[in-house]
Amino acid sequence: MHIQDNISLKPFNTFGIDVKAKQFVSAQSVDDLKSIFSSEEFPQKFILGGGSNMLLTKDINALVIHLNLKGKTIISKTETKVIIESQAGENWHRFVLWTLDNNFGGLENLSLIPGNVGTSPIQNIGAYGVELKDTFHSCKALNLDTLEIETFNTTECQFDYRNSIFKQHAKGKYIIISVQFKLSTKNHNLHTNYGAITSELEEMGIVKPTIQDVSKAVISIRNRKLPNPKQIGNSGSFFKNPVISREAFSKLQQQFPNAPSYIVSETEIKVPAGWLIEHAGFKGKTFGNYGVHKNQALVLVNYGGAKGNDILELSRLIQQTVARIFNIQIETEVNIV
Ligand code: EPU
Repeated sequence: MHIQDNISLKPFNTFGIDVKAKQFVSAQSVDDLKSIFSSEEFPQKFILGGGSNMLLTKDINALVIHLNLKGKTIISKTETKVIIESQAGENWHRFVLWTLDNNFGGLENLSLIPGNVGTSPIQNIGAYGVELKDTFHSCKALNLDTLEIETFNTTECQFDYRNSIFKQHAKGKYIIISVQFKLSTKNHNLHTNYGAITSELEEMGIVKPTIQDVSKAVISIRNRKLPNPKQIGNSGSFFKNPVISREAFSKLQQQFPNAPSYIVSETEIKVPAGWLIEHAGFKGKTFGNYGVHKNQALVLVNYGGAKGNDILELSRLIQQTVARIFNIQIETEVNIV
């Protein structure tokens, strides 16, 4: 293992924020991780996966451990199902494309999500009517106290909307080292009801879509609405969609009859934060080298050279303005570091 000093983290976070790590190491194996965590040499450690869900606001005064464990394997296969395993450091989208090349179904709606496989269960990534938990089988995680590997099944992960045990009481206690998915090998169960997918497939002239067609439709929708982090720094949705009571939603509707919503339960309604932010006047607003994306108000962007604190301040201004106009608190989805 090669420990480097004073390394810029700009290439390692999709926001493209230029902060420095006091020390940096790329961990290629579980043994690497065990030796780092059993050593007394590094009192402060910071785990970095795909860097796609964080806003870095300061230099990291620690050993930054870049999770770079690679490999994909077929664990078992029956007539209709396959269980596959990916190591944590595989790029999520390349992994999804690999499943599609093998005609394994289940992850197509999650195409083009930035980040790595290992961080996907932490916030139960989701898009276009599908969440990671729908095909998740299990994950292996290194317990940082015992340095033993533990396996978590779906129930144990306690998945919820952009949430799991790894964001709650297991936070900071484990490193996910690999994830297993249960996918279909035939008679794929397509999820094409999400409005934008239906119309995209229609436009593509596809009547009987394959899993590969659904992936193409998702890629084209995402490319239209969401900025490519390689061109414009961003972390996808900066905020979560708030869940409010039915009473609160009725009040909102009296003032804003066109407010969109999804039913969560008998008592709760989810309101798209993108709509709230747009109607608070922030969509497409630029403040020098950062701002709010012009095609999706949920996404804050770094046009190049922005400081993490500038973006953090903008996010607070958005939260305050949304709260003032709509009386709704929106929470950040990205981790502020
Ligand atoms: N909307 C606006 N203005 C905007 C953005 C959205 O009015 O600027 C309205 C849309 O018109 C629509 C509603 O909000 O009525 C929902 O918009 P969309 O379908 O684009 O989805 P979203 O709620 O904004 C969520 C996820 C995305 C995911 C999409 C598609 C969250 C926080 N975000 O966004 O996830 O791709 O659904 O399933 O749940 C991510 O997490 O990084 C991410 C991009």
